Amino acid sequence: MNNIAERVREIVGGYKNQDGVLVQVFEDIQDEFGYLPEDALRVISTELGVSLAEIYGVASFYARFYFTPRGKNIVRVCTGTACYVRGAARILTGFEDGLGLKDGETSPDLKYTLETVSCVGCCALAPVVVVNDKTQRVLDSSKLLSFLKRSENVG
Ligand code: FES
Repeated sequence: MNNIAERVREIVGGYKNQDGVLVQVFEDIQDEFGYLPEDALRVISTELGVSLAEIYGVASFYARFYFTPRGKNIVRVCTGTACYVRGAARILTGFEDGLGLKDGETSPDLKYTLETVSCVGCCALAPVVVVNDKTQRVLDSSKLLSFLKRSENVG
């Protein structure tokens, strides 16, 4: 808690005496920790004088904020209509089997998070997978993990 609390106080301190900063504070905290740790939300509550209930209410309104740790590599399998009809379910199963994760899960070593998304705007390439910031058409399930290795964050 101490390291988190200290860092969160620094971040919040940069916004003192400003109105409407909650979402920006969440962005900064998530950039720092990869998600919004409960300890961080408690410190924000104290520092900004906003109830924890309101903090959770605002943060959970936005799909881009996470309350649990995320993997260093985010694997998104598109299950939008175009991808679905071209085999997205098979692609998802390939990643689930290869990573040992189900949709929405993060590996215990925090290396991967596997999730499904609706259309990512590349329907002509369907079926597609997005690993971190790289979008790829994936037809052959034997190539799934090699694409993943090429696209993952190292370190
Ligand atoms: S449905 Fe998958 S990219 Fe559009």
